Amino acid sequence: AALVAREAALLVPEYEAKFAALQPEEGRFDFTQFEAIAAWAQHFGKAVRGHALVWHQDLPDWARAAIAEGPRRARAVLDAHYDAVLPRMRARIRDWDVVNEPIANPPGSDVPEPPGNTGDLRDTPWLRALGPDYVAIALRAARERDATLRITLNDYGVEADTPWAEEKRRRLLRLLRGLRQRNVPLDAVGIQGHLQMREPFRPEVFAEFVRQIRALDLQVAITELDVRETRPPVGDFVQRDTAVALRVHAFLSAAFAGGARTVLTWGLSDRWSWLHREEAVALGGGDVHRGLPFDWELNRKQMWRALARAFLGQPAG
Ligand code: G3I
Repeated sequence: AALVAREAALLVPEYEAKFAALQPEEGRFDFTQFEAIAAWAQHFGKAVRGHALVWHQDLPDWARAAIAEGPRRARAVLDAHYDAVLPRMRARIRDWDVVNEPIANPPGSDVPEPPGNTGDLRDTPWLRALGPDYVAIALRAARERDATLRITLNDYGVEADTPWAEEKRRRLLRLLRGLRQRNVPLDAVGIQGHLQMREPFRPEVFAEFVRQIRALDLQVAITELDVRETRPPVGDFVQRDTAVALRVHAFLSAAFAGGARTVLTWGLSDRWSWLHREEAVALGGGDVHRGLPFDWELNRKQMWRALARAFLGQPAG
């Protein structure tokens, strides 16, 4: 907590504002954890962003079943969630990931899409119930309830210089252009920034992508920055931290060159990262991904200095 108080100006709950956390049973809302975070942040003068209202993960079974009943019930579930959450947190949360991860992963990914899905949109309970228009429905419904909320659409896998990421960038841009053409309310795009050292990165490719989003008069935020190392990682801690720092500096410098203005890391210390907690991603063998600004003992790593240099527009160290 002391580290967060010292290091961060903007917070995002890793779990406590998700659908399953806020409405575990239909009509029973639990704001305890979310409000505790908001109160802590208020005490320390920090802003808090909300994550996430409409997503395919962390949907409780009751909601998944209700949404599957069809469009009217699905719309009622969405409206009831918004009606409870947005007014309650309005004074403290001025930016929400209203729609999270709507883009279908292209073929050849770790998480392949079901075969039937050929469109740009991920096959989710919301898509099945409301059709492709669910994204516009979700965004409009937020604007109807809050005229000045910063409405954000958040996604991942659009950072690397690979054909897969290029295809996902194309899909996201097609969605964004369609929403803009139809005047659907949207203020910002969240690019999660879960970087992977196994993937090549080319700054000019990513900077151009950010520019294309900005050209749609949308703000760009990096919302979940961290770095997954290769398995096994290459070199000793110094070499690993240097590689991670250079990647982060290149990524953020490109993001800022493209017009991004906000950066959040997904945690501060390697010790508490989902990269360490999630079996499928963790390094194992007592090793941890060194993908956040602070190490296990909360010491600053080279990544911290890379962040600082990128913020200051300075070259990599
Ligand atoms: O399931 C329990 C729940 O019953 C309990 O009430 C709650 C109390 O905190 O904890 C829940 O445990 C786990 C939760 O994290 C809190 O630690 C969930 O089982 C676990 O699935 C959940 O994992 C999170 C995951 O999103 C799913 O929500 C990770 O911590 C979090 O790092 C990860 O973050 C996602 C972003 O939301 C979207 N972008 C990708 C990113 C990484 O996957």
